[in-house]
Amino acid sequence: MDTTRHEDAALGTAAPIVPACVAIIMDGNGRWASARGLPVAEGHREGTRALRRTVEAAIDAGISSLVVYAFSTENWSRPSDEVETLMEILSETIDRELPDLARQGVRTRFMGRRDRVPGWLREKMDALEALTAELDTLDLWIAFDYGGRAELVHAARRLVVDGVSADAVDEDALAERLYAPELPEVDLLVRTSGELRISNFLLWEAAYAELVFTDTLWPDFGEDDLQAAIAEYAHRARRFGGR
Ligand code: IPE
Ligand code: IPE
Ligand code: MG
Repeated sequence: MDTTRHEDAALGTAAPIVPACVAIIMDGNGRWASARGLPVAEGHREGTRALRRTVEAAIDAGISSLVVYAFSTENWSRPSDEVETLMEILSETIDRELPDLARQGVRTRFMGRRDRVPGWLREKMDALEALTAELDTLDLWIAFDYGGRAELVHAARRLVVDGVSADAVDEDALAERLYAPELPEVDLLVRTSGELRISNFLLWEAAYAELVFTDTLWPDFGEDDLQAAIAEYAHRARRFGGR
């Protein structure tokens, strides 16, 4: 299937281009919960249902790579019970939602630091990556203990460890040493919940991403919101610095 273009049968014209790589900052779980008088954990739990819907909608839309921001390097500063809950929720998601998505051909990988995640969770992350390694309907990256600055530091360290000389350091050499070198350039970056910032997500990979901000809180996000973001993307003129 051609995943980059939708043919508009009625008009016979090549219609909007679907972004190949979409990144989402899944924000607003806390506000969703507090608006309902619920504990924040319930907002995060509902957020996993939104993730499931969104991955399925991304497959239907013909998106090939999806990167979602689930836990930032700065999120460790939250109260310890919330951090613990977020670890448990990732574990539940690996047990419940992601195997269902694997049946639909979703290959899941994690990007971020692995050394600070509890060992029992790291094992589950590794196992899911191995289990889905041959799948190719959609590539899903879950950014967990991820920070764009930490990723660039990681890449810089690897340049040194690999003994790359200063003259040989170029964009390709650095990009090859990011957490997920196979991740394509981000075409569309969506942030939910009305916040207008990047919060340390994909500083390198999203250099020329089109940005779409929506007021929808992440737990309410679904197919319509994804379609709306894609429609907005389709109207953008991408110039990459050219004329
Ligand atoms: C996003 O929701 C999830 C994480 C950052 C882990 P938040 O928990 O940040 O929700 P708000 O921003 O407080 O509403
Ligand atoms: C960004 O959201 C991180 C994730 C969605 C995982 P935050 O809620 O942590 O970001 P800030 O604090 O509003 O910038
Ligand atoms: Mg937030």
